[in-house]
Amino acid sequence: MIIPHPTHLARIPGRFTFDESTTVRAEGAAGPAAALLRTLLAPATGLPLRSSPAGPVVFVVDPELGGLGAEGYGLTVGPDALLLRAARPEGLLRGVQTIRQLLPAEALSPRPVADVPWRIPCVQVTDVPRFGWRGMMLDVARRFQPVSFLRRFVDLLALHKLNVLHLHLTDDQGWRMPVAAYPRLTEVGGTRARSMLGRAGSGRFDAAPHSGAYTAAELRSLVAYAAERGVSVVPEIEMPGHARAALAAYPGLGNFPGRRLEVWTEWGVCENTFGVHDEVLEFCRTVLGEVLDVFPSPYVHVGGDECPVTEWETSPEALARTAELGLAAPRALHGWFLGRIGEFLLEAGRRPLCWAEDSGVLPPQFTVMPWRDAGHGLAAARRGHPVVMAPHRATYLDYPQSDDPGEPLGQAGAVVDLRAVHAAEAAPPSWEPAAAARVLGTQAQVWTEFVRTPEEIEYLAFPRLCALADRAWNPASDWATDFLPALQHHEARLAALGVTHRAVGIPRRGPLPSTTSH
Ligand code: ACM
Repeated sequence: MIIPHPTHLARIPGRFTFDESTTVRAEGAAGPAAALLRTLLAPATGLPLRSSPAGPVVFVVDPELGGLGAEGYGLTVGPDALLLRAARPEGLLRGVQTIRQLLPAEALSPRPVADVPWRIPCVQVTDVPRFGWRGMMLDVARRFQPVSFLRRFVDLLALHKLNVLHLHLTDDQGWRMPVAAYPRLTEVGGTRARSMLGRAGSGRFDAAPHSGAYTAAELRSLVAYAAERGVSVVPEIEMPGHARAALAAYPGLGNFPGRRLEVWTEWGVCENTFGVHDEVLEFCRTVLGEVLDVFPSPYVHVGGDECPVTEWETSPEALARTAELGLAAPRALHGWFLGRIGEFLLEAGRRPLCWAEDSGVLPPQFTVMPWRDAGHGLAAARRGHPVVMAPHRATYLDYPQSDDPGEPLGQAGAVVDLRAVHAAEAAPPSWEPAAAARVLGTQAQVWTEFVRTPEEIEYLAFPRLCALADRAWNPASDWATDFLPALQHHEARLAALGVTHRAVGIPRRGPLPSTTSH
């Protein structure tokens, strides 16, 4: 019924009805969760949910409550009262989403709905997430998306009790992060002349420039909006590879003085990387300083993936740096570069995060996101890195969700279907306990080479993101007996929210409202 599947839910007889007269008691730290419930229910229900010391809806934060951790909650709904309790305010925010899902699906509509009784079944719920990192990465570098859509996406993450929006803000094809000290990053790096059609190497292009950049005020307001919903926005600034947009803006950051490059218009791995001279490290520190100012999240992602070393192998400056540092080969500059940046972030009180794409050594202070193979996650965890699992065959939503020829173009080489996403174990039972204990959680990736619009992004994300959310919260959720039946109910919620999605594609027990799909 609920996604993600609660760790414990028991039905008890009766129903509780929200109506015009229902009031809420939520003192102190419980206030923001009550305000969120009001905000979320208002458009469809118009319920005022006024504050009153009498209840019958009571929200309580009690730090003494045991066993609920940072995000767990207890919910007791009886015919005459509703009690939501948590040890931390974040737990109440998760409980609010459960209340929303217990209501009729129409409660999620953005428009007023008449003649629906706002009743929920009486239940006893104790619900605690297995993993503290349950997220989604959205690539806004390849395709810029307006903040209004990011806000909508935050709401969709929160509905599924996901708690991280990882924003991929810079890449070869576009720089979207405003940096006052380096205005050309967005002025020049924010626009590419055209975009490759089809997959990497196609040689075909459209004729349309693609532009976009956020303002610091927009990003700050997104961060605040997300925080009210218990979602942390984690910024990613790519280095030392995937940097071509920055090189177009500031050629002096590259490996060859005097060379001019344009913002990249192709897909794939670009061989142009940042140089390794002092000016580049200073640039990265300045940029990240401004990033820290906008994004309070404890984690800051600096990419680190797909960094060819061809330029470092021929650049006199990079070769001199290799010799000066006593490194065996220019390849080792990658770890040196990330290490310097990691130190900077640690000194600033943040935790550095990067992609891991093989079993090679990364600077020890980094939390890593293995994206190719789950086995790289095990190797990293054994070396002591905290790990957020992002293996492409289970979490990359830019791969098609079925082999149906009608699916939109996706990455080649795999189908990542709903079942593959649900089957993935963030901390596989075959891993030794010490390694499994280093797994912080998991997240889905939506890279946007092949998608342009918010609707196309939603189509990739849903319903696969529901599957990821389910297992990240509760790995005991069973595909056949828990998840699929819940998803049938959930499709009506997605429809009420107007979420474009692939049809669930399983026999339906009863009529559901019509849904949008491609
Ligand atoms: C990645 O897919 N290059 C992280």
